[in-house]
Amino acid sequence: PRTGFVLVAAGSGTRLGVGRPKALVDLGGGTLLEHALRRLHGFPGRLAVAVAAPAGHLDAARRLASAALPAATPALAERADARPAHGDPDASPAPPAADDVTLAVVAGGASRQSSVAAAIDALPGDCDVVLVHDAARPFAPRALAERVAGAVRATGDGVVPVLPVVDTIKRLSGDRVVETPERSSLVAAQTPQGFPAPALREAYRSATIEHTDDAALAAAAGLRVRTVPGDVHAFKITRPDDLERASRMLAGASE
Ligand code: C5P
Repeated sequence: PRTGFVLVAAGSGTRLGVGRPKALVDLGGGTLLEHALRRLHGFPGRLAVAVAAPAGHLDAARRLASAALPAATPALAERADARPAHGDPDASPAPPAADDVTLAVVAGGASRQSSVAAAIDALPGDCDVVLVHDAARPFAPRALAERVAGAVRATGDGVVPVLPVVDTIKRLSGDRVVETPERSSLVAAQTPQGFPAPALREAYRSATIEHTDDAALAAAAGLRVRTVPGDVHAFKITRPDDLERASRMLAGASE
């Protein structure tokens, strides 16, 4: 079987305030995009990676992504557009057949959901499971991706990694508290989230509203979604202090 790995990296990073797309922010020896892809080294079995990158930074994203995944051969979709339209066909022989890791880098959309949709379309048809991951969680360990993919194969359900919430969560109407859901029944959802490939493709085809994660979109399409334990390292980089946390973590890891 081949695992599809969608990495959405097309966000603007406005809340980070660094003036460039979040996935292209440098941190301790690599961009967030590279860190996320480097975590895939050693992933068991065959892998098809599809990155949704900012439309204005496709070349940079391609360069960074192929360097971070050294074993990658270009996926079919990309080989076609890499060839000159009227060039001598002998001048650019077809690369070797898809290897253990293929890579496609496509332009993301205006919303996370449209970025995921574009990347799913760039995956080869023979993936049995698709993992969808945020480049904004670049330190999610490979073991987490393996745990999610394993649970999808074992159950046929959608799988979302979760951590308990530490804060008490309030539901509001304006600034008025209308409900305090029981904390023990709440969890925080991380990525990568995993799905049987045909079910995910179908869920994306039938989606009519924007969802904040793929598990919600899949559940809206009728797929059962279960949880596996998440990982503290899969925290999301959103605001400047998250970058500081990530730097500290990297510095600690190299000591
Ligand atoms: O903005 P937020 O941090 O919630 O985005 C989550 C993930 O979705 C990030 O990795 C971001 O790059 C990605 N994204 C995207 N296309 C968008 C918006 C967000 O790929 N239009």
